[in-house]
Amino acid sequence: MNNETEKYRFASIDWSDPLNPRSKIFNDIYFSSSGGEGETIHTFLNGNNLGERLGELPPGSSFLIAETGFGTGSNLLILLEEYSSLIRSKGLKLTYLSFEKYPLHPDDMSKAHTNFACRSDVLPEFLEKYACSDFSRREIVFYLSDLAAVKIFLGDISSHLADFSVIFKKSINAWFLDGYSPSCNPDLWTDELFSTMKTTAAPDCTLATYTVSGTVRRGLAAAGFEIKKVPGFGRKKEMCRGWIKSS
Ligand SMILES: C[S@@+](CC[C@H](N)C(=O)[O-])C[C@H]1O[C@@H](n2cnc3c(N)ncnc32)[C@H](O)[C@@H]1O
Repeated sequence: MNNETEKYRFASIDWSDPLNPRSKIFNDIYFSSSGGEGETIHTFLNGNNLGERLGELPPGSSFLIAETGFGTGSNLLILLEEYSSLIRSKGLKLTYLSFEKYPLHPDDMSKAHTNFACRSDVLPEFLEKYACSDFSRREIVFYLSDLAAVKIFLGDISSHLADFSVIFKKSINAWFLDGYSPSCNPDLWTDELFSTMKTTAAPDCTLATYTVSGTVRRGLAAAGFEIKKVPGFGRKKEMCRGWIKSS
């Protein structure tokens, strides 16, 4: 990376527990090394019913997933680990869009995945392409083999929503609402995000999140989503799933 890139603000990470890197900015962990994979599968993949939906798509179909908070990219890697055979056998065109205010420095990204034991065969390619990205730009884009196009919007999510609404109008099929809890990070969970989700929702758009915050549920419902509480992962009693209401 050149000096210009170094000026970009990367995440500041507390590595005192190497298995659970913690954001010093948000004072919260990115991903739990014990049970994190199960949590991603339960909350985001099953929460959006992805296995069944991807399985039912006609060969060669496109499918767009959007995520709030790219962090270590673990949700993406687990998604690819779970569905790579399906994506390849059906020739699906998967696009993964994510927002990240404080991207991990490539050295931290590498370190995180040394400890996480991700089984995805695209991990080396992911780490290489991430490290070669230009973090001084507003977004970074790379392709992971024949599996997915990845675009990460850098900077505060609020600075991207207006353009995102226009570019991805009626095209997002599923949302992973990550991004720390709304009580600790209310700046991410805004009505503007919820209305962008409505504008960009494809007719089959779903969402999933670990939070059951009343503010979030009311905001999403006001934007046009039907929201349901369902059992959460592990010790988490509840989480939310949602569907865009047909208009
Ligand atoms: C729980 S972590 C995401 C974990 C991630 N999905 C993974 O698989 O590792 C939340 C992420 O949201 C990012 N974030 C928080 N507030 C943000 C904002 N306003 N705009 C964009 N990203 C934000 C944080 O920097 C952090 O990386």
